[in-house]
Order: sequence, then C-alpha cells, then structure tokens
Amino acid sequence: AASRLDFQVRDLALAEAGRHQIRLAEHEMPGLMALRERYAAEQPLAGQRIAGSLHMTVQTAVLIETLVALGAEVRWASCNIFSTQDEAAAAVAVGPTGTVDAPAGVPVFAWKGETLEEYWACTQQIFAFEGGPTLILDDGGDATLLVHRGRALEQAGRLPETADDAAEEERIVDAVLTASITADDRYWSRIADGLLGVTEETTTGVHRLYELAKEGQLLFPAINVNDAVTKSKFDNRYGIRHSLPDGLNRATDVLIGGKIAFVVGYGDVGKGAAESLRGQGARVIVSEIDPICALQAAMDGYQVARVEDVLDEVDIWVTTTGNEHVITTEHMLGMKHLSIVSNVGHFDNEIDIAGLAATGAERVEIKPQVHEWRLPTGRSILVLSEGRLMNLGNATGHPSFVMSNSFSNQVLAQIELAQRSAEYATDVHVLPKVLDEEVARLHLDALGVQLTTLTDRQAKYIGVPVEGPFKPDHYRY
Ligand code: NAI
Repeated sequence: AASRLDFQVRDLALAEAGRHQIRLAEHEMPGLMALRERYAAEQPLAGQRIAGSLHMTVQTAVLIETLVALGAEVRWASCNIFSTQDEAAAAVAVGPTGTVDAPAGVPVFAWKGETLEEYWACTQQIFAFEGGPTLILDDGGDATLLVHRGRALEQAGRLPETADDAAEEERIVDAVLTASITADDRYWSRIADGLLGVTEETTTGVHRLYELAKEGQLLFPAINVNDAVTKSKFDNRYGIRHSLPDGLNRATDVLIGGKIAFVVGYGDVGKGAAESLRGQGARVIVSEIDPICALQAAMDGYQVARVEDVLDEVDIWVTTTGNEHVITTEHMLGMKHLSIVSNVGHFDNEIDIAGLAATGAERVEIKPQVHEWRLPTGRSILVLSEGRLMNLGNATGHPSFVMSNSFSNQVLAQIELAQRSAEYATDVHVLPKVLDEEVARLHLDALGVQLTTLTDRQAKYIGVPVEGPFKPDHYRY
C-alpha cells in the first residue's frame, strides 16, 4: 500500500510558479469556485477515494483541489504523455499549505514527456489507495480500460497473451497487468468491486464506454460528462478555437493568415478548429464522412473536399475525428514541402506516424514536440507532438474559463455517483438537464450576462417551468 504523500513529478521547485498560475486560474473558474463554496459544509465527497486520469494542467489542478475541498482523497495521473504542465503537477503535490520540504498535497504521477512505459506505470499508481478507489475520473478511458482488462484476465484465470504483431502500447499495458496479476491475482477484481462508477470527460472515452455497455462488459455505472451541453458544445468547440492556434503558434510561429488549412472532421472540435483558422485569415477546407456535418460545413462557408484531392495545396493539416488513419502515409508522401501535420483528436492513431517511420523518412527534432520528417520524395513535413493532441503537447490546452464548465460537470457527476450510485444502473448516463443549466448559470455573472426571466404566462405558453429546465432532452442547441 502506498503512503499518502507518494508522488512523481518533474521538479517540486516549480511548485511556486504553479501556485501563482493556479491562483489566477481560480479567478477564471467561477463554476468550480462556486461549487467549493456551496458544498464546503456538506462535504459530499467525504470518504470517497478518487482515481483521476486527466491532462495534468493548471486547470486540472483547480479541479483536483475542488474535489479535495469537497472531502475526497485523490490520486492523479495525466491521460497523455505530453500534456502535463510540470509546474501545475508540482504545485498539486506540494498542496496549498505544504512546502517543497514538506509536501502536503495530492499524490500526482505526471510529467511532460513521459515514455509509454512511464505513462502506464503512472496510470496504475492512481489506483494504489489503502482500501482501493471508490470512483474513477477518466479522460479517454485509459484508467477504465486497465480495470476492465485486468479484471477480465483475473476472472479467466490467466495472464495476458500479447499477439506477436501487437502494437507497442498493447505490450506495455499487458506488461503492467502481468506484473500486478502475478503479485496478486485478485487485484483488479477487488478494485472493480470497490468502484461506485466512472465519470468520463471526452468523446473518445465515452465511445469506449458505450461499446463496453453494448457488449455487456461494463462493470460499474458511468456518467458521460462529454455530452453535457455545457461540456461538448463549449470545451470541444470554444476550447479548441483558443488552444489550436496557440499550439500552432508555439510550435512553429508560422503565419496562419493567407495559408490553406485543412480540418479533417466537422464535429464539435472540427467546428471550433475551422472557425479559429478562418479567424486568423486562413482559407479553410473541411472533410467529412457524415452528410449532415458536410452540409453544415458547406453552409458555414467552407470548401468541403477529400484529403487526397488537395494534398499539394494545403499548408496546415489538423485532424479532429477520433478515428484512425484519417491521414495515411500515402497522403503524407504527397503533401507540400514543410506543410504542418497535426492532430487534436484524443489518440495518436489519426495520423499514421508508424507508417511514416516505415518509409525510411528521417526524423529531425526541431525542438521537443516539433519534428521535421524528411521524406524519401525529397520534401519534408512538420509533425507536431508526434501526432498526439497538439493543443496540449505544443501549448497548454484549453483556457480556464471553458474548463470551468467541463470540470463543474465532472464535480457534479462525481457527487451524483458518490451520493446516488444505487439509482444509476450499470450503464452509461448523462447528467440531468437541470444540472447542465446550472453549470451554465454559474458562468453568467463573470461575463456580465443579464438573463431574461420568463413571466408565468410565458412559461405556461411554452410549457416549461419558470426556473427550467427550458428545453426537452432531444433539443440540440
Ligand atoms: P464528434 O463526433 O463531434 O466529431 C468527429 C467528427 O469526425 C464527426 O462529425 C465524424 O463524422 C467525423 N469523422 C469521422 N471519421 C472521419 C473521416 N475519416 N474523415 C472525415 N471526418 C470523419 O467528436 P468531437 O467531440 O468533435 O471529438 C473529436 C475528437 O477530439 C475525439 O477524439 C475527442 O475525444 C477529442 N477531443 C479533443 C479535445 C482537445 O482538447 N484536443 C477536446 C475535446 C475532444
């Protein structure tokens, strides 16, 4: 069993710098701060042990300290090898009242630039509570995956058999599971049994949860935080509108205006990406597989084309699909000299980097998370964050105000499972609309929004309560 103050971060001396940033972020996160105030006396998370796997940024530090303020014990890892802000991780480990010599914060296992082995070792660390965790807070589903795969192997009474052609990451996960199951062949089963549920942050993680539920393999209730309106219609869209150009600028500082940019996918993230690139003066082309989203893109004024048809025109590529190999090796071989190739979807398989390496292309590091690939064709392309989320790898992710919306949903979802898990069947649920509206309400004052109140007659006329909820569940915003 781990003691309460174990942690692994880059450098605790960064804690002061991190604490300053956290203090400023708190001012920009009115939803989280209102929840701290509202629940200070009640302590709805008292007795909960939360295993968190989510980008270890300054904004996440405010989330973690909110969970602690509501009574929880927390252990944390990042959900991506490049997304940690080392000063935020250090500040969380030291804690608001601790010192570098006597850290008194939260056990956090995260640093920028982990290897995949380190990443999965850190993910395993978040479960090492005395008595096991009671809740998972996940982003992308890696923490949830470890428990499900570990328990399935224990139930079957065997160690993982890694296929000869398995991907590197699969081998690493299997090695982690082999070690834990060899030491204790009920380890993951006990963890699964102790969990009240998981709250999942992102589209890709939610997709994995619905698959598990469909196959009858989901082990505990899950709340789909992503599909709260105040999450996906804000963070995915307005968040990326801010952090995508931030990543491009910090990585390359290439002028976006006048360039041709290509956004693969026109869902929530794609819409924000296209808008920001157009805002910088780029001519934006979009691709889609879904006729509805393709039509939306066309009506929003974008050219809609296929990747392979415009390879020699595009200067900046951004993938936003949550799908695999939407940019193939063949595509990259046909691209313009020094075009920028980047991804903001959750996993690094959107761009076929493994295929690129197999062409014999030479990889030259311009700086960390920026690589020139010298192709056999004589041209080069610039790949950001090795094909992983570039808004977090090359920049610092979404800004505080939008993350306050997402993370207020996370906190409310954690409280739901802590207090009412018996009412949630082992399935995937979204938060009730009144909580969604509440999260939005918590952010209005900070922006000087004056909300109109329905009169009783008006409320009756449109058939909704004066205090909401204002829309039926099928409304799409
Ligand atoms: P979404 O489902 O709204 O959008 C994805 C779109 O891609 C869909 O419209 C789909 O039709 C399209 N698509 C799928 N395959 C395609 C292909 N081969 N070619 C062209 N289009 C294709 O999902 P959302 O919410 O936009 O999320 C996208 C990804 O971004 C997910 O992996 C999600 O987890 C991640 N994400 C990343 C964030 C970040 O900070 N970088 C923030 C939020 C989400």
